[in-house]
Amino acid sequence: MGKVNWQMRELPQEKRDLMKRMIREVSEHENSQFDKMEQFMQHGTTTVRKHCINVAHVALFLTTKFGIEVDEEAMIRGCLLHDYFLYDWHDFKIEYLIHGWTHPGLSMRNAIRDFDIGETEQDVIRHHMFPMTPFLPKTREGWAIVFADKLCAGGETVGDRVNARREVKMEAMKYTRPHLLKRGKATIDGQMTKEEGKNADRIRRHGLGITHTGHGVLRRHRVAV
Ligand SMILES: [Fe+2]
Ligand SMILES: [Fe+2]
Repeated sequence: MGKVNWQMRELPQEKRDLMKRMIREVSEHENSQFDKMEQFMQHGTTTVRKHCINVAHVALFLTTKFGIEVDEEAMIRGCLLHDYFLYDWHDFKIEYLIHGWTHPGLSMRNAIRDFDIGETEQDVIRHHMFPMTPFLPKTREGWAIVFADKLCAGGETVGDRVNARREVKMEAMKYTRPHLLKRGKATIDGQMTKEEGKNADRIRRHGLGITHTGHGVLRRHRVAV
């Protein structure tokens, strides 16, 4: 298999449309708290809402790529709701120490309370942490999320560290190779990089900031707005 391109545009148009429709459906459902998940961080600078969308996208990508027959609507709905909890598990609270084991059950109960979900969605949500929670998924959709969730968690965490390192490098270039900046090969002042823009937007909307403290180590902090 050649280089795998995970971009959304690699999916056929009808699957991209399906993703958009499902996100809209879950987000606009009358009891939905899906959009509130944007206020909480999951991995690095990725919010819980964005993480759930990433997982749905990767699950759809994997099942499409490998020709696995699944109920795509149920799988996407389950993926979008697989981390349907409304708290920041990075905060220090005794109960959050076991978040990894408790949140699949909690997310499923929340999803049943707010949405009309079937058994496939419940399997996707309930068993997505396998093997951390030792209960095997019963459906193909449930297996798809087991892999998609791990891939996204890794990508979101590593990707953030790579971005943070890049920013540190850019900052250093200001002093060491300013001619490259002048020639427009890099930007520091003036226009914000994409990541800085996203961070500024998050601070403005939710008072959540991320700074890197060096060597790719990220620190979350609340910002008074
Ligand atoms: Fe999870
Ligand atoms: Fe997850």
